[in-house]
Amino acid sequence: MADNYLEKRFEEFNGPRTKTVRKGGPSLDSLLLRNRSTRGFSHGRPVLPEELRQIVAVNTRIASSKNQQALRFKVVTDGQEASFVNANIKMGALFRARRAADASASESDCPSLPLPGTEPQAFIIIYGTHPEDPSLDIDLGIALQSMSLKAVELGLNCLMIRAFNRVAMLSFPGTEGLVPLAVLAVGKSAETIYLDPVQEPPLDYFRKDGIHYVPKLSLDKILL
Ligand SMILES: Cc1cc2nc3c(=O)[nH]c(=O)nc-3n(C[C@H](O)[C@H](O)[C@H](O)COP(=O)(O)O)c2cc1C
Repeated sequence: MADNYLEKRFEEFNGPRTKTVRKGGPSLDSLLLRNRSTRGFSHGRPVLPEELRQIVAVNTRIASSKNQQALRFKVVTDGQEASFVNANIKMGALFRARRAADASASESDCPSLPLPGTEPQAFIIIYGTHPEDPSLDIDLGIALQSMSLKAVELGLNCLMIRAFNRVAMLSFPGTEGLVPLAVLAVGKSAETIYLDPVQEPPLDYFRKDGIHYVPKLSLDKILL
C-alpha cells in the first residue's frame, strides 16, 4: 500500500484538503487549555456558516461505535433561530443551584448566565438517528470534544449543552424522526477563565471578580 493511500482515498470521498498541515501549528495541549466551556460570547465577532461547516466536518474523520456514524448536525446562525435556541437552553447549573440554596449569593460571583449581551449567536445541534444508548453517548462525547477543539483552532470557543428542551429542537425542518442529543454553542469568548489545579473536591466551578475558575484534579490524583 502506498504511503499516502489513505490520504488519497479520503480526498476521493471528501474532496481535496483545503488546508495543508502546518508545521508549528498549535499543540494539542494548547488547544486543550484554550478549550474552556464558555458561557459568554462576543457579539462583535459573528460566526460564519462556513466556520460551522468546517467544525461539523471533523465528524467525517472521527471514531464511532462499529463505525455507525449515527450523528446528524443542524447549524444555526440565523438571528431568529439563534434566539429560539437561546430560549431553550440552560447554562451554569451550579450557579443556579447555589442561588436557589442561598438567597444571599451575590449576582457577580453567582451570575445567571449568559450575561445580557453575551448570548451565543451560533449553534450546532446534534441529533442521533436512533434512541440514546451507551455507545451513542460515547460517540456523542467524541464528536463534541472534536468539534470543540476544531472551534478553538479557528479562534472560537464552545459550550457543550445537555440541559436543553429536546422537544423544541425537533421543531427544525429535517429533524423528523431524529433524537436531539446536545447543543453546542459556538462563538468568540467574552470571558476570562482559569483552570484551578486542586487535589480534592469540591470541584464546583466558581467566579470571583468576574473571573471564572474551573478546578481540575492533578495528574497524581487521577493516576491509579
Ligand atoms: C456532556 C456535557 C454536558 C454539559 N452540559 C452543560 C450544560 O447543559 N450547561 C452548561 O452550562 N455547561 C454544560 N457543560 C459544561 C461543564 O459544566 C464544563 O465542562 C465544566 O464546568 C468544566 O469546565 P471546562 O469544560 O472549561 O473544563 C457540559 C459538559 C459536558 C461534557
